[in-house]
Amino acid sequence: MSEKNHNVSRRQFLTYTLMGVGGFMGAAMVMPMVRFAVDPILQADAAGDMNELTALSDLTEEPQAFSLTYEVEDGWVTQTMEDTVWAYLSGDEVVALSPTCTHLGCTVNFGGDENNPDQFFCPCHFGRFEIDGTNVPGTPPTEPLHRYDTEIRDGVIYVGRPQPQQ
Ligand code: FES
Repeated sequence: MSEKNHNVSRRQFLTYTLMGVGGFMGAAMVMPMVRFAVDPILQADAAGDMNELTALSDLTEEPQAFSLTYEVEDGWVTQTMEDTVWAYLSGDEVVALSPTCTHLGCTVNFGGDENNPDQFFCPCHFGRFEIDGTNVPGTPPTEPLHRYDTEIRDGVIYVGRPQPQQ
């Protein structure tokens, strides 16, 4: 009777030992795979990156539309995106504005309204913005055009993501 209890206890000991060692080995194999699988989620958001726009010498005091190409990582997928940036010089300052109307998201153009050639114009509901992006009172947009953070390195302009101006 006591011999039988002793055998059962030994069997249990071996079972627990094998389960412990097996679990440890399994975790050692699985953890690197889990880390690899979730790694894109743990990466810093690409939205904080600065992307090359154009040479500083390309800018004038009148806003021009420049094409901005950048990559966005969404989980495991990397997509190439393309935006338009309206950029100009205000004295020594680089001003870079989003073309997205803050009313309902149509695309604005500079000088698109012949009666207001020095403003941004949105044809959808006749929204207007001053050259610095400030919304013109009495038109549908209720906030300024979003503005890009800018950096100049070696004569090249880099922009981040557009931010509200308020
Ligand atoms: S979407 Fe621009 S004025 Fe309405």
